[in-house]
Amino acid sequence: MTSNYSIQVESTSQSRLSEIDFSTLKFGSIFSDHMLWAEYKDSAWQEVKIVPYGPFSISPAASALHYGQAIFEGIKAYKFEDGSISIFRPDENWKRFNTSAKRLQMPEVPEEIFLGGMHKLLEVDQKWIPQKEGSSLYIRPFMFATEDHLGVHPSISYKFLIITCPVGAYYSQPLKLKVETHFTRAAEGGVGFSKNAGNYALSLYPTQKALDEGFDQVMWTDAKEHKYIEEAGTANLIFRIGDTIITPHGETILHGITRKTIIELADKWGYKTEQRKVSIQELIDGIKSGTVSDAFAAGTAATVTPISTIGWEGKLYELPPVEGREFSERVLKYLNELRYGKIEDEFGWNHIVK
Ligand code: PLP
Ligand code: COI
Repeated sequence: MTSNYSIQVESTSQSRLSEIDFSTLKFGSIFSDHMLWAEYKDSAWQEVKIVPYGPFSISPAASALHYGQAIFEGIKAYKFEDGSISIFRPDENWKRFNTSAKRLQMPEVPEEIFLGGMHKLLEVDQKWIPQKEGSSLYIRPFMFATEDHLGVHPSISYKFLIITCPVGAYYSQPLKLKVETHFTRAAEGGVGFSKNAGNYALSLYPTQKALDEGFDQVMWTDAKEHKYIEEAGTANLIFRIGDTIITPHGETILHGITRKTIIELADKWGYKTEQRKVSIQELIDGIKSGTVSDAFAAGTAATVTPISTIGWEGKLYELPPVEGREFSERVLKYLNELRYGKIEDEFGWNHIVK
């Protein structure tokens, strides 16, 4: 990759690394020493730099705060036994980020800044990447509008940043999901496919209601009839019904890179796969008749998290025991081995940081 952007590095004078207990990592509360910082104005990306992680100031009128032009991505980097650093499929996140940007009338971020900047940031903060299996460095690129103007129009200025955090598991146990039949995450023609901040803001109230009822997350359904399963709050859904691996599809869901990876693997391994509408009735019928042998949430933060129970219209439906789910166990084993560099990367999914 040749670069039009020279990325200056301003190193921290006080690393926080020695203060971190890597044995008890939670998701998303510890941040590495540095962050990437880029500014967009006058219709072009300006300076790109790596600076110490920390707060910065923006105008109280910054349009992201009022009208929500804000998007993000989530990616993980892993450290191999020999110390090599690998980022999992970040090119896919770069493409999805720019799809989100386009839908929200934001500028696209060039590959040299998104991917080139990420590689450089990881070189600088490589000591922050945990090596223990099950842990990784979570990478959070994000962009938001900074123009100080209260008219509703696309901002003329933006900031793009990448921050990173060493993380463990997002979910620590199998999930109890509530099928949401009143609230809606996304409708056709809307922004469900994009990874914008508003999609998460709108999920908080229905999710809190689900938590209050004893569930871990909501399972979103379609906006028109609440009959078809879409995705969970922070991950896509994959089921094995009969001999087929099935995942809901459509413009209202976020097209996850973990989901895409798993479907590609299933195809390669010779399973029958289908990306299509899945009705909640089909799933419940399958649970009752015993044809649903596997069900899990798939995402970067969530990795592969089994679903134990589904709540629908006041009734609970129990899925088969988590141990012995052949497909998800195979996927998880394969992905762990691949991500920590223990098997050959036949798909070219590991992007090695030089
Ligand atoms: N759906 C939602 C709403 C998410 O937040 C995520 C997480 O990124 C996913 C699906 C899974 O996407 P990916 O596998 O790319 O992380
Ligand atoms: C991710 O997996 O990267 C996500 O976006 C989930 C996050 C909102 C916690």
